[in-house]
Amino acid sequence: MCGIVGYIGSKKIGNRLIEGLKRLEYRGYDSSGLAILDQTMLKSVKRIGRVNCLEEALPEKILEANVGICHTRWATHGAVTEENAHPHVSSDEKFALVHNGVIENYLSIKKFLESEGYKFVSETDSESIVNLIAYHYKKQDTNNKSNRFLESVRKSLLHVEGTFGIAVLSQDHPGQLVCAKRGSPLIIGVGKNEHLIASDVNALTHCTHQVVYLNDNEIVHLNADDFSISTIGNSSVNAVIQTVDWDTTAAKIGDYHHFMEKEIFEQPIALTNGMRGRFSNDSSTALFGGLNISEDELSQIDRIIFLSCGTGWHACLIAEYLIERYARIPVEVEYASEFRYRNAPLDKNSLIVAISQSGETIDTLSALKEAKRKGYKTLSINNSVGSSIARECDGGIYQHAGPEIGVASTKAFTSQLMLCGMLALYLGRMRNLSYSDGCKIVEAFKSLPKLIQETLSVKDQIKLIAKEYADYEDCLFLGRQLMFPIALEGALKLKEISYIHAEGYPAAEMKHGPIALISESCPSVFLTTSGEMFAKTLANIKEVKARKGKVICIASEDCEIPEDSIDSLIKVPIAHEIISPIVMSIPVQLLSYYIAIERKCDVDKPRNLAKSVTVE
Ligand code: M6R
Repeated sequence: MCGIVGYIGSKKIGNRLIEGLKRLEYRGYDSSGLAILDQTMLKSVKRIGRVNCLEEALPEKILEANVGICHTRWATHGAVTEENAHPHVSSDEKFALVHNGVIENYLSIKKFLESEGYKFVSETDSESIVNLIAYHYKKQDTNNKSNRFLESVRKSLLHVEGTFGIAVLSQDHPGQLVCAKRGSPLIIGVGKNEHLIASDVNALTHCTHQVVYLNDNEIVHLNADDFSISTIGNSSVNAVIQTVDWDTTAAKIGDYHHFMEKEIFEQPIALTNGMRGRFSNDSSTALFGGLNISEDELSQIDRIIFLSCGTGWHACLIAEYLIERYARIPVEVEYASEFRYRNAPLDKNSLIVAISQSGETIDTLSALKEAKRKGYKTLSINNSVGSSIARECDGGIYQHAGPEIGVASTKAFTSQLMLCGMLALYLGRMRNLSYSDGCKIVEAFKSLPKLIQETLSVKDQIKLIAKEYADYEDCLFLGRQLMFPIALEGALKLKEISYIHAEGYPAAEMKHGPIALISESCPSVFLTTSGEMFAKTLANIKEVKARKGKVICIASEDCEIPEDSIDSLIKVPIAHEIISPIVMSIPVQLLSYYIAIERKCDVDKPRNLAKSVTVE
């Protein structure tokens, strides 16, 4: 996790670095820091807390520098302290470094360097790299001054195991910045008489829209007017400059109290954008422009493996139900972090689909790389154009849901559900799904934004329910079939942002263990539509009531629920089953949002979490 921004150029670092850092806070927000070169003196300031704490602590003089690096941290090695915050300075005070990633062999590097007299002041793995650079710098030929900095970083990285995106300043080379990456994202921003480096393109677009995405094991040497890329093994690399054309104003909070609130309420438009231009002229199937797999190849696929983490994993479960039902292709859903190491035997005609909002989740990225290494075709459903996962896959489907800033995923989730449904339709129509069923499904998708708008009107009712339930410390979410993944998602949302212990189960599983939790102090949220599972879900509701458990029931309008079976009822519009999980997600999101507000939690930046999880 963690975010990095670096600047070198003719302008003052001032807003250039701080604005970039603020845009990276979603990557981690427990502490932050900045280092600059003032003449030939390295100076750094670090603070615990959010970027605004750092901003307040920065003397004007520092902001006037023309070269600097900064960092926002999500702690991995060592507690949240100023010593552990980045930038780290080498014990000879010649180098400052910011790092994103995890150095796996840092203990052995540290031991060696300590035996050479280097002192360590933090508990981090990152400090081992900056001291290793100082060590190699000292050992090098002093006549070759300009490359000595670059070469000492290169030499050091040859000994480093693990993942890194780094930016390094050298006291002896005030007009230079050296950066490198392996496993963690790093992008160069190319401006006029200035260059930037950042771990996310959004941290650059306030200065330039010309960018270069670095590949793993590349190292960059930058000054104000120029930059050169080579591999860590010292082969030269041609830079490919790309233009990013998205509008970052979409990431502004507007009149909302929180980004999460904004993102919940803008779902009708996010869904509209995700389906635009993606239905056939005869409105009987979906179309995807970027799959890069021929229809012939797709019709040969006899198994699909979905990979993801967290909320995206719940979207995968919906994909499993829908693709198996409509396209009759067997689907497996894997936690990316488990798949990577499981060495699962796969058939030749398996297709791998990764789902990731950020496109940077390292577990998902690594699992994809593993699948590619074994020769499988890979696709992704992803919300970040140009992200590492998008670039790694053979093809994919961009969500076009717009930037999601709140740590708890909302609009990105529903957009993933929609695209999974559309993929099921597309694959189904290539097989046995009839023209008329295809048309009905397309019609259902087209009605979705309006239906979601209507569903959002339950907000006032949910606000009242939230007041009533905000003080509970445990909660179960229960649903069957397509409602089960939404129950999992409901539980995840509630625990993420309100810190209430919540678990999701298939409703029928409750009696196999979780029922032991049911009591007056553990309410249950049931999700149901009027389909074939309704009567069975109702029976499960009664089992909870019989044990004095409170029940909040979220049900489609056509469900007839006896009043004495439940304590609170939230009705949502009737929807085609393929879109029903999307409709049902809305009250679940609102419930967790308003409960978190009642509990005065930091909704957009919940404790211990980060938006983009770039460590294993
Ligand atoms: O960016 P990704 O979709 O790959 O992220 C995966 C999870 O880290 C993410 O969904 C996480 O669970 C969210 N905080 C859920 O709200």
